[in-house]
Amino acid sequence: MTKKQIYSAPGRVCLYGEHQDYLKLTVIPAAINLRTTISIERNDLNEINVHSLELKKTDVFKVNDEITLTKNEFDYFRAIIIVLKKEGMIGEIPGFNVTISSQVPIGSGLSSSAAILVSWLTALNDQLELELNKTEIADLCFIAENNILGINCGIMDQYSSSLGGIFSLNCDGPPYNIQHFETPLEGLVIGDSCVKRSANEPLTLLKNQITTGFEKIQKQGDFKLKSLASDTLTEFRDIITEDEYRRLLGVITIRNITEKSSIELSKSNNQDIECLGSLLTKQQTMLRDYLGVSIPELDNLVDVSLKSGALGAKLTGAGLGGCIIALAPGKEEEVAHAINSVGGKATICKIDYEGAKKE
Ligand code: GLA
Repeated sequence: MTKKQIYSAPGRVCLYGEHQDYLKLTVIPAAINLRTTISIERNDLNEINVHSLELKKTDVFKVNDEITLTKNEFDYFRAIIIVLKKEGMIGEIPGFNVTISSQVPIGSGLSSSAAILVSWLTALNDQLELELNKTEIADLCFIAENNILGINCGIMDQYSSSLGGIFSLNCDGPPYNIQHFETPLEGLVIGDSCVKRSANEPLTLLKNQITTGFEKIQKQGDFKLKSLASDTLTEFRDIITEDEYRRLLGVITIRNITEKSSIELSKSNNQDIECLGSLLTKQQTMLRDYLGVSIPELDNLVDVSLKSGALGAKLTGAGLGGCIIALAPGKEEEVAHAINSVGGKATICKIDYEGAKKE
């Protein structure tokens, strides 16, 4: 046996641009200092033996046979190998014993899935000398999650986990345009509603409604989601359903909010932090009233955060459960206390600037 090596990748919050990535619009995620860690050693048995410390479960599969999915938590590991084989990037694999542990809660909107995929591929990249860079790792993890595991996600999570930091990512690619922000953005507090859900449910529902509505509008002229004005949308209100109208209006408004926050975040000094906070809360209103992906537990966490001094707050991730993110510089403790006192679970967090790495 060779010696153990450790790799890790962060979770993320989505600050601006929720439900925009799979529509090829712009998102602004921030990687956070909650990480998924993989310890790996070569076993020369041609098998992957994965043990999860949190789940206290193990999965073993032969790597050189055809790999099938088993519809359990370990499919992330299988999906990456399937993608690497399909892309012709690997031949015989010696096999590895892998132990995974994660600080990123599962099914909570903090991108636990991407953190697993990215940390695993970062480990394989080094062990098998694949020479992939961080964006190539993100792209392959997206293929694994989207094409192999069938999740209707966009590319935000994989890019955030692999690259780290805070950036705007124009999802109309590849190639994707990325603008890194130097902002320290202090005072981030996560509030977990502890309501678990599968992200695929809101993603599938919204994606269908938005694309069906927009296709009807495109039959009327050469319209693009990246430039569609809300007045133009209103002109077509009669040819789309009420739900499609509301979803599209939500998407357009969040797109505009994301553009504004990107301008603010790119300022090298004198950023208007209050404006950045209020743009978070405006987004939450759209997510709640127009996209329909908030729930009372999340609304409540947003409310108590704002009442205890946060400059803004919104749900993070696909919604219908999971976490909120509040921006509360100087009021972190008060906001965390308020979240905990209504049954949520608060974590004061920092932005992670490293992304996926070998420890
Ligand atoms: C999930 C998906 C992301 C994104 C968000 C919603 O987290 O994995 O790609 O679509 O939902 O913004």
